[in-house]
Amino acid sequence: MRLRKVKNIEEKIKQFADIIIFEPQLQKGKWRKVFANDNPIHLEIGTGKGNFIVANAIKDPNINFIGCEVSRSIIYKAALKAQNIANLRLINIDASFLQDVFEEEEISHLYLNFSDPWPKARHEKRRLTSPKFLDIYQNLLKKQGIIELKSDDQHFFEYSLVKFHERNWDFLELNLDLHKEQTAEIITTEYEEKFKEIGKTIYYIKVRIKE
Ligand SMILES: C[S@@+](CC[C@H](N)C(=O)[O-])C[C@H]1O[C@@H](n2cnc3c(N)ncnc32)[C@H](O)[C@@H]1O
Repeated sequence: MRLRKVKNIEEKIKQFADIIIFEPQLQKGKWRKVFANDNPIHLEIGTGKGNFIVANAIKDPNINFIGCEVSRSIIYKAALKAQNIANLRLINIDASFLQDVFEEEEISHLYLNFSDPWPKARHEKRRLTSPKFLDIYQNLLKKQGIIELKSDDQHFFEYSLVKFHERNWDFLELNLDLHKEQTAEIITTEYEEKFKEIGKTIYYIKVRIKE
């Protein structure tokens, strides 16, 4: 996501200490205390400017949502929208470190929305559905946990399907043109809105991990 660096970001971001959990590793295994309830936790990785997670948190107050975003300037934009939503928090980390932040089976549901496709073969390890990341997700997701993925990038999408299939995960839903065929209301992301406007095909898959 291209974004000009926000000036004085370190100063500005401090005001969001109730929304952005600055030392998330201290909450490992204790996220229910952060939310003060036992509701399931849904995690979005690469949350961007936050439209998707904010809309979901408002729609589903009985689910706790966490948005993970590596860029400080981008998470700041998300935090501006995420104020006064009790069931929403943000974490500013690289997804490679999620195991330092969540205990095994602490997460029920995971969203990967328009992840960077990293098309070059030598960058495969950076793709958020490469085996390294799937190992991490398998660890932090509950047994039979769910992953939903949306992408406009056919190569990244096909790569992800193959990687899910290699683990024998159950394909619950597959849609090769989400906005053409789907009539139910879809909560969209910033990227998704742009792609919809120009008529780009959006691919969608929902999988259930094996125990
Ligand atoms: C293409 S943008 C999509 C943003 C948003 N999900 C959307 O659909 O509008 C990808 C986002 O993922 C973030 N990101 C990329 N790699 C990441 C990682 N390893 N951990 C956390 N966030 C990451 C980027 O900073 C960027 O904001």
